[in-house]
Amino acid sequence: MAEETDWEDQYRRGETPWDKGGPSPGLVRYLEENPVRGRVLVPGCGLGHDVRALAQAGAEVMGLDVAPLAVQRARACEVVGGESYRLGNFFAVEDDLRGAFDWVWEHTCFCAIDPGRRPAYVASVLQVLKERGRLLGVFYLDPYDEEHQPGVGPPHGCTMEEIEELFGNDFLIEESWTPGAAYEGREERERMLLLARK
Ligand SMILES: C[S@@+](CC[C@H](N)C(=O)[O-])C[C@H]1O[C@@H](n2cnc3c(N)ncnc32)[C@H](O)[C@@H]1O
Repeated sequence: MAEETDWEDQYRRGETPWDKGGPSPGLVRYLEENPVRGRVLVPGCGLGHDVRALAQAGAEVMGLDVAPLAVQRARACEVVGGESYRLGNFFAVEDDLRGAFDWVWEHTCFCAIDPGRRPAYVASVLQVLKERGRLLGVFYLDPYDEEHQPGVGPPHGCTMEEIEELFGNDFLIEESWTPGAAYEGREERERMLLLARK
């Protein structure tokens, strides 16, 4: 396993290139066209841009992050609806979060964790979802360029085959598409997925 990233230190030093100051364009487009209601968990929520986009669309959303500074800064943002934030580790799901969510929204958490922990990520998604829950996410398949090559991350890329292998036992891929909107530089490099718990 690669060396763990010290996320708190990244926030302290202002080294947060993933933070684009607003929600995932793929999520914004999705919410314009589809309802997301009920309870949503956003693991690795960072400053909570996606949390607030989901809350504004009418969901009851909890953003979870392991970095105290991220949670503190997310909490300092103006409340837009039914959102809340919790400091915590997605790999150690607290009792009150088990089976508590209708949705998990994934965006740059899966690619941020060490690839060796992906099975644990899937297990945590299963732990927090209700029986008929869904995982909706934008997966950053190809974050690579000349300077950033596979094996050196985060972000860590992945293939659709890996995703199918990881999630296939427990989830049905209901929809899979290239998001029509993306941050500059991520066009055609992401995949949006809607997975339903089997
Ligand atoms: C690349 S950042 C993405 C943040 C946010 N999703 C965004 O797009 O702005 C990854 C985030 O995941 C958080 N994180 C990493 N490992 C985590 C874990 N085990 N549990 C909860 N959060 C975690 C980090 O603190 C960081 O805020």
